[in-house]
Amino acid sequence: MDAAQELQRVETYVGRMPALPVTVTKVIEICNQPDTSPIDLNRVISVDPVLMARVMKLINSAYYGLEAKVTSLSRAIIMLGVNTVKNLALSTAVVGAIGKSEISSALNMQGFWRHSLGAGVTAKLIARRRGIDPRLIEEYFIAGLLHDIGKIPLNNALKERYVNVLGVADREHIGLAAAEQRELGFTHADVGRLIGETWNIGTAAIDTLGFHHAVANYAEEHRDLVMTVHIANYFMNIAEVGFAGDRFPARPEEGTYRALGIDLSLLDDIEDEVDAEISKAEIFLKIVE
Ligand SMILES: [Fe+2]
Ligand SMILES: [Fe+2]
Repeated sequence: MDAAQELQRVETYVGRMPALPVTVTKVIEICNQPDTSPIDLNRVISVDPVLMARVMKLINSAYYGLEAKVTSLSRAIIMLGVNTVKNLALSTAVVGAIGKSEISSALNMQGFWRHSLGAGVTAKLIARRRGIDPRLIEEYFIAGLLHDIGKIPLNNALKERYVNVLGVADREHIGLAAAEQRELGFTHADVGRLIGETWNIGTAAIDTLGFHHAVANYAEEHRDLVMTVHIANYFMNIAEVGFAGDRFPARPEEGTYRALGIDLSLLDDIEDEVDAEISKAEIFLKIVE
């Protein structure tokens, strides 16, 4: 198979991935309008029993740690906030669509999702330490959770070939994205962006998927988010939380630590917290079952 055929095969795989449920697309659309009210959201979600059950499950989970049980959807939406409901709808739909796809050969699903959850909670903890607006914190979690989904089509459509690419990264002690670029001519970040665009999941997530290994090439709106996930991913790789194929991760790009006002020592500070937060965040995977 030559490079063009490999790309074609991956694109075909992405094209055949299940579409996101219509209600989820609608929720994202509504939430992206500037004057969205919880009532508008309630109207859409209440006609979708699956999504409604997910919202209720999440609000009553250890992730939010509320004392009293919430039983009304409208109350749940008000408590979570429009932005968080959007993120919840999006992430559970993506995990639902991807989580069921068979994953073989190069990566195993359990390691992959643990790395992903770890990057999500780490991005969130970094954002929190930096005093990011609490209404935006959940966006950091979701972007981290989804950052590597472009690896799924590579793994499942290219199979042994992708095992070889991981082997190149291991043997030559280079980052996985660099090995992909050299061997395939495109990376899991490119594939991630393609998935994000196909599903129309919003620019924050699309840009993170597309640029989390090339922060220097990105100067747009979500730069803070993209840089944070760039670092969170590195932290999870060197701390070996889960495994998503990167045994010799490239060091964070020049200037990223400085731009965020953090350094590597932060990883030591938050490592225990990351573990605890991963256990709580596992609800995002369980919720789609
Ligand atoms: Fe990645
Ligand atoms: Fe990653």
